[in-house]
Amino acid sequence: MGEVSPGASPPATPKSLKGVTIARGALAQAGQIVNEIAPTNRVFLCADTVVMDLLGDRVTHALTASGLQVRPHTFEPGEESKSLRVAADLYDWLAAERAERREPLIALGGGVAGDLVGFVAATYARGIPLVQIPTTLLAQIDSSIGGKVAVDLPAGKNLVGAFYPAHRVIIDPDALATLPRPQLIADYAEVIKTAVIFDSDLFDLIEASTHKLHDPELLAQLVERCVRWKAKVVDEDPEDRGIRAILNYGHTIAHAIETVAGYGAYRHGEAVAIGMVGAGRLAAQTGHWTEAEATRQNTLLAAIGLPTTFTGIQPAHVLDAMLRDKKVQNGVIRWVLPTTLGHATVNNQLDPTLVTNVVHTLTSS
Ligand SMILES: NC(=O)c1ccc[n+]([C@@H]2O[C@H](COP(=O)([O-])OP(=O)(O)OC[C@H]3O[C@@H](n4cnc5c(N)ncnc54)[C@H](O)[C@@H]3O)[C@@H](O)[C@H]2O)c1
Ligand SMILES: [Zn+2]
Repeated sequence: MGEVSPGASPPATPKSLKGVTIARGALAQAGQIVNEIAPTNRVFLCADTVVMDLLGDRVTHALTASGLQVRPHTFEPGEESKSLRVAADLYDWLAAERAERREPLIALGGGVAGDLVGFVAATYARGIPLVQIPTTLLAQIDSSIGGKVAVDLPAGKNLVGAFYPAHRVIIDPDALATLPRPQLIADYAEVIKTAVIFDSDLFDLIEASTHKLHDPELLAQLVERCVRWKAKVVDEDPEDRGIRAILNYGHTIAHAIETVAGYGAYRHGEAVAIGMVGAGRLAAQTGHWTEAEATRQNTLLAAIGLPTTFTGIQPAHVLDAMLRDKKVQNGVIRWVLPTTLGHATVNNQLDPTLVTNVVHTLTSS
């Protein structure tokens, strides 16, 4: 199968970067940026209670300084809030406020706020302006770019959703300063994923920086580079029908680990790290890249503090869950495999015995 990595360096201006501001201190510009969308006096600001406590005042101050009245609303932190029930609370709040169609709704927070509040913005009054202010590393480099918004159903994650790109995205890497370290580390898995599939310079940079993961200048550089790559892929495949699949590097095994271990046992990024070890090993054993490159990847994951093996679950159950994944059709898994650091390809013809053997190497129990 053909090489599908987009190239050697991030593109200058992907279309999907339109309306995206990335800068340290960008939160202070929130008022000016929101005022660019449409003349309005009011904005609706929605965040989970933790993020509202940490950042609500700063954002509110930036908005009121530009003459906007802020109507705040909070929901409980956690994936459980990405539900139709909480979406209905937000609809009721907007309706009680008599929100009008030109009045923006701001999603302040991690991927849960972005997906939930974004879904409400996409659907309330058939769509009101959406501003994303992502505050986790994952939300800054991944969920705030690309327009996917959704809530979960008991039957599965993200089952009700839409493509609704935000009118503005305000990415302030300094907002990451308060992130608990275990969460920041987990989110680094997605940064390393981006480096392995697209960007060997980015890989070198992370390798040289493992002693200062919370450094604001480093985070600013990582966020900027990862956002450019994500935007480039989204430009090429806005509705996730083709090349966007390459972003699933490490995710085939990761989703299975998350399913088998149960929600919350592994952070998403931790499962992705183990998944990258597995996919990297498959790539090495099929001659896509070298053992040395796979080892370099795994050494970096471990140096960051990410797990490289799973415990407490059975490899056989992980293999079953992989085959039951909704992206797997007729038992054919589309593997994203690195061909060298900074490039990857998709291969759907791996020998199932090899896959079984490799998944067994991922257990440390
Ligand atoms: N739409 C997409 O394209 C896309 C892509 C990837 C993931 N997602 C979704 O994103 C969600 C996960 O996002 P997440 O990991 O950001 O989770 P999250 O939004 O629940 O945030 C994690 C925790 O961090 C806290 N937090 C957020 N910002 C903080 C800050 N600056 N300082 C201190 N604490 C802070 C939150 O209160 C929360 O408790 C999942 O639902 C996933 O499906 C969506
Ligand atoms: Zn992911």
